[in-house]
Amino acid sequence: MFQIAIDGPSGAGKSTVAKALAARLGIVYVDTGALYRTIGYYVRSRGVSPSDARGVEALLGQIHIRVAFEEGSQHVYLNGTDLGNRIREPEISMYASTVSAIPAVRTFLLETQRQIARENSVIMDGRDIGTVILPKADLKVFLTASREARAKRRVLELAQKGIETTYAQVLEDMEKRDEQDRTRAVAPAVAAPDAVVVDNSELTFEETLQTILKLAKERIAELGD
Ligand code: DC
Repeated sequence: MFQIAIDGPSGAGKSTVAKALAARLGIVYVDTGALYRTIGYYVRSRGVSPSDARGVEALLGQIHIRVAFEEGSQHVYLNGTDLGNRIREPEISMYASTVSAIPAVRTFLLETQRQIARENSVIMDGRDIGTVILPKADLKVFLTASREARAKRRVLELAQKGIETTYAQVLEDMEKRDEQDRTRAVAPAVAAPDAVVVDNSELTFEETLQTILKLAKERIAELGD
């Protein structure tokens, strides 16, 4: 089993690059943000405030999450239903970030993530993969970029999903969310001490991909020695 952890703030391009790397290396790509988004979606659907820790905790018993990999892509089932792009709405991003600061939510999702990594060689993207979920990952990358570069990419990514926004709105939401993720008490979104920090503000997608692919191949060769 081989484990790659990719952490970093939103809009750094973690998911696009991790997906491409998974295809190149023949391993499974796991998007852990989708799990927090699924909880955020449920909390909103029940009319509970995401910052109401007790209210959110009380809902966890009603939530069953199953992750499946179908034809190379991840599907998250919430009580039997695949929510698809509904969890990608900007409002859900904020719900996900806020509920993710609640320790009981993180505990609720911990085992699901570790189980996937026990059963498959993975490249897992998130905020605390290298620090908490897979502290012994074979390679840890903290992928980041300037706020402007990240906001620009985010606008494009949302447009591709048919979600219309403005640059200013995306920048504001992104900063608020990243600040919240970075400063929370439990599993803050910071680089693990042994992570390789890759700043791709000035890199193309292909250059980012090649940089991490090289790191991964070096690690694979080392492990084979
Ligand atoms: O990666 P994303 O934008 O889909 O994640 C949505 C939110 O979920 C993010 O703002 C913080 C939270 N999250 C987390 O706390 N830990 C992870 N491993 C992944 C996501």
